Amino acid sequence: MHKPAKTITLSERLRARIEAREARVGVIGMGYVGLPLGLLFSEEKFPLTGFDVDAKKVATLNEGGSYIYRIPPTDIQAARTRGFAASADYAHIAEMDAVIICVPTPLTESREPDLSYIVATAEAIAPHLRAGQLIVLESTTYPGTTEEVMVPILEGKNRAGLKAASAANTGEDVFFVAFSPEREDPGNDTVARRDIPKVVGGLDRRAGELAAALYRSIFNSVVPVSSPAAAEMTKLLENIYRCVNIALVNELKLLSLRMGIDLWEVIDAAKTKPFGFQPFYPGPGLGGHCIPVDPFYLSWKAKQWDFQTRFIELAGEINTAMPYHVVAAIGRALNQHKKALNGARILILGVAYKRDIDDLRESPALTIIELLQKEGAEVKYHDPYFAYVGHGRKYHLDMKCTPLADLGQYDCVVIVTDHSDYDYARIVRESQLVVDTRNATRGIDSGKIVRC
Ligand SMILES: NC(=O)c1ccc[n+]([C@@H]2O[C@H](COP(=O)([O-])OP(=O)(O)OC[C@H]3O[C@@H](n4cnc5c(N)ncnc54)[C@H](O)[C@@H]3O)[C@@H](O)[C@H]2O)c1
Repeated sequence: MHKPAKTITLSERLRARIEAREARVGVIGMGYVGLPLGLLFSEEKFPLTGFDVDAKKVATLNEGGSYIYRIPPTDIQAARTRGFAASADYAHIAEMDAVIICVPTPLTESREPDLSYIVATAEAIAPHLRAGQLIVLESTTYPGTTEEVMVPILEGKNRAGLKAASAANTGEDVFFVAFSPEREDPGNDTVARRDIPKVVGGLDRRAGELAAALYRSIFNSVVPVSSPAAAEMTKLLENIYRCVNIALVNELKLLSLRMGIDLWEVIDAAKTKPFGFQPFYPGPGLGGHCIPVDPFYLSWKAKQWDFQTRFIELAGEINTAMPYHVVAAIGRALNQHKKALNGARILILGVAYKRDIDDLRESPALTIIELLQKEGAEVKYHDPYFAYVGHGRKYHLDMKCTPLADLGQYDCVVIVTDHSDYDYARIVRESQLVVDTRNATRGIDSGKIVRC
């Protein structure tokens, strides 16, 4: 007798395509997160398409070029030989099996979540959705975004009347949805990206399993959680933990300076404890797209629940004050030399928000430069990663990198970002006065150094 063929479900089909490395992966947002993530899929032989609204980025990638310092053009060219292409045309979304969204999630001027990029992306994807596709959001955001913001747009604006697979929608006219946070630490080469466990929360069991299977192909370990909201909250917990602990050491640094205690020495001693202590280091203020921004996504959401996130607010207050503290310390150091900030020639070393990276976003150096200029100082900067600093959402500088030469001409050299390329002994030797916000001159004994 003829045995009826078993019907393969949509999720079984996608699962099989993932396992065979045939699933076509589309990554939306070819930035610091999306581009390296996409390259991992390409290295694992998945057909990759990168989507971006920035025509310049699309053209650069298709010409085999790179615009991210730590990604050499040869990596892009290798991916191109494996079939990688970039596109600004969302119609190609229909050809994808899995779509991963890595678009920005900044704050608005009034420090509220700006979900406009996620909304625009969901609206652009929706008309091209197919049954059985997997859509994963990676952008950092408040708990509830995937389910409350993204899914309704995808469901409401797709032409086929598809619904997201969920406990209520167990049929086959569905697409699958998950959230999986990006957990990268830019500039940290001690942990390979593949070794950072990938947290995944699916809208239902099928979506969670598919997203886990997809990420298991490129990450060595996947951590499933029960929902997109749990995955969204995991990322925020991690960043709030950093933000609060950095604020704690920043505040203790201010006290230690007054008491004549070297807090860096104290942290080094404390971190010898084999349990219960993790070191965080003080600095000139928070930078980057994550730590100064993400916690406020949660405080905004908390207000809808009549809840005040006091740790976040306090940490924000302390960290925001740090560039002002640095400028006051520069003023005091100059005063010791019988000089005023007004008219002083000041060289800022390092404008990236942290060591050895080419990212300016929210960098405290930008605030410090603007504050010094307001005081009448004549400011120049040097940074091996930035030949020019122009205009951003919150700064208007239009400055060119000055050579790291003739340091004696400056009234004060300020170490804002402790890039490892710098020869700090030489900097101290050749400068009249060095204000060090990072303890980069540790071990150098000189009356010219003011640590702040
Ligand atoms: N950079 C990091 O180290 C890091 C780490 C963890 C999490 N994150 C999070 O990842 C997300 C992305 O950050 P990033 O640093 O990669 O940002 P980015 O600005 O470097 O890249 C975002 C890219 O998205 C593109 N884009 C914007 N709108 C688009 C649209 N509608 N369609 C297609 N492309 C669009 C932009 O042109 C840009 O190339 C953010 O939510 C961020 O908080 C970043």
